[in-house]
Amino acid sequence: MGSEHDECCGGHDDDGCTNDCTVQEGLVLVQPDDGVAIVTLNRPDKLNALSADVLTELHMALAGIEADESVGALVITGNAATKRPAFAAGADIAEMVSLSALEMRQHSQLGQAVFSMLEQLSKPSIAAVNGFAFGGGMELTMACHLRFAAEGASFGQPEINLGIVPGFAGSQRLPRLVGQGRALEMLLSGDPINAAEAHRIGLVNRVLPDTELVKGATEFARKLAKKAPVARAAIIDLVVRGAGQTLERAMASEADTFGLVGGSEDVKEGMQAFLEKRPANWVGR
Ligand code: COA
Repeated sequence: MGSEHDECCGGHDDDGCTNDCTVQEGLVLVQPDDGVAIVTLNRPDKLNALSADVLTELHMALAGIEADESVGALVITGNAATKRPAFAAGADIAEMVSLSALEMRQHSQLGQAVFSMLEQLSKPSIAAVNGFAFGGGMELTMACHLRFAAEGASFGQPEINLGIVPGFAGSQRLPRLVGQGRALEMLLSGDPINAAEAHRIGLVNRVLPDTELVKGATEFARKLAKKAPVARAAIIDLVVRGAGQTLERAMASEADTFGLVGGSEDVKEGMQAFLEKRPANWVGR
């Protein structure tokens, strides 16, 4: 084996390693996997903390995924080579410590913009939470459409312990996901919860054994990636935009979208395939 394998796997040539040993650089890695993009936060020496550069690279990665027709879903996880398992241990505190009030506001707006872009992608996203998801890390999981957690994962909004408030929309997405009372308990105490509790309160969709997490999330993402693309994008749009609208307005949008999607080639194909008792061949228009 060459040096690339050595860097990836420590050179353990004869142990049946099946890793793709292509060395990648960058703070956010994107690995295509049969219709799914695996996005890895890659700052293991800082528990994958979300610096401005990480956020900027994530923005670029998301733009590429949205434009890539071969990708139908994405999984976001943290580089596992951390000293303790981490998805992301928050926004970068070392970076924030010297920011002025105006810069803090701009930092918040950057994170909010990137996470809103993620939430509004036309492709479903799953956060595969492999360890600490604290502060901005937990906020990132909440901007994903689904959350799968490793048994050893933990979630927390510890900003209050630093004297600050959540800045990447955690104060808004958390109560929408788990209700105001539970959200305030986490936000005001700063106390973390484990994966089982996160599942119990509806913060995460599934809890998987640590070693099965990324595989399980990827398999589920692949299933979502194979669904009708037009309807998939429309469902995300309806649910995400509808959350900020009155019921009346959101239902009007649903009826409009029902009509628009109803005119797509995919609808004709889906219904014809049902009648002919065969799988549908989606064309995505
Ligand atoms: N921002 C910047 N650096 C961070 C970080 C963050 N949010 N979280 C961890 N790191 C860095 C540490 O400074 C340390 O760097 P160093 O080795 O150069 O000193 C490295 O990551 C490892 O973290 P460490 O604290 O030594 O690990 P630990 O296992 O003892 O503790 C945590 C893990 C997650 C409990 C602890 O790192 C922590 O509390 N992090 C901050 C969580 C937080 O408040 N997030 C919200 C930010 S708004």
